[in-house]
Amino acid sequence: MTDFSSFEHKPSATEETLLQQLDRDNLPRHVAIIMDGNGRWAAQRHLPRIAGHKAGIQSVREIVTFSCEIGIQALTLYAFSNENWNRPVKEITQLMILLERFLNKELKTMMKNEIRFQAIGQIDRLQDSVVKLIRSVEKETRNNNKMTLILALSYGGRTEIVDAIKKVHQDLEQERMTIKDLDEKSFSKYLYTCNIPDPDLMIRTSGEVRVSNFLLWQVAYTELYFTKTPWPDFRKIHFLRALCDYQGRERRYGLISGEQNH
Ligand code: FPP
Repeated sequence: MTDFSSFEHKPSATEETLLQQLDRDNLPRHVAIIMDGNGRWAAQRHLPRIAGHKAGIQSVREIVTFSCEIGIQALTLYAFSNENWNRPVKEITQLMILLERFLNKELKTMMKNEIRFQAIGQIDRLQDSVVKLIRSVEKETRNNNKMTLILALSYGGRTEIVDAIKKVHQDLEQERMTIKDLDEKSFSKYLYTCNIPDPDLMIRTSGEVRVSNFLLWQVAYTELYFTKTPWPDFRKIHFLRALCDYQGRERRYGLISGEQNH
């Protein structure tokens, strides 16, 4: 019988077994992750919320390195949403400090592992020093082509679509395109993700079952995977469970079983 649960189930296989089970020829090209649960992880330990974000960096490192190792082409991490601007200033400041430290520290590893870095979102809303650092890491890593690491920062899916519509409007007004040229394919070139394929798999940690304004346009045919594990505890084994679960799915794109030609 089909299991309609959207959560992971039977987490009994070991990392080694899952690694053997993983089909390297059928990996998702692009994985997007909503890294949720840092605050609750910290609260359970009677620690300040920032301790959860700090612990979450270790998960980021492990998942980025492993993704690159196994041959995933693009990994997008939801690090700071438009809605996160409403958090206390202290938490925002601490998150920005963590981001700066992460970029400064990981640049060397990105170069070694040939990872290209890219940020998506309304980056100019971030403080100047962070914007400068982001642009310089993007520039430094632009010729790396093993994997692209995308951080969604000051990001909102609806805002992304509205921003794209404004750019389309401009191009129409300036006669760089006609309304006849506008279709799904041409519109997607106006999104922040214009050079990145749509995600094949989206993972959300910590037990919430929603997409929270993340890559709204791009997830039209994405497989969704939810785990109760909070982000700071999310390790290679949890990621492998998600990848193996993904490989067991049939992607039909609206067609009948066995019919699709993607
Ligand atoms: C959601 O957990 C997580 C965030 C808003 C920030 C994610 C940031 C990190 C993992 C660290 C910084 C990352 C990089 C790449 C430098 P939450 O705070 O909403 O948790 P809660 O729902 O339990 O309160």
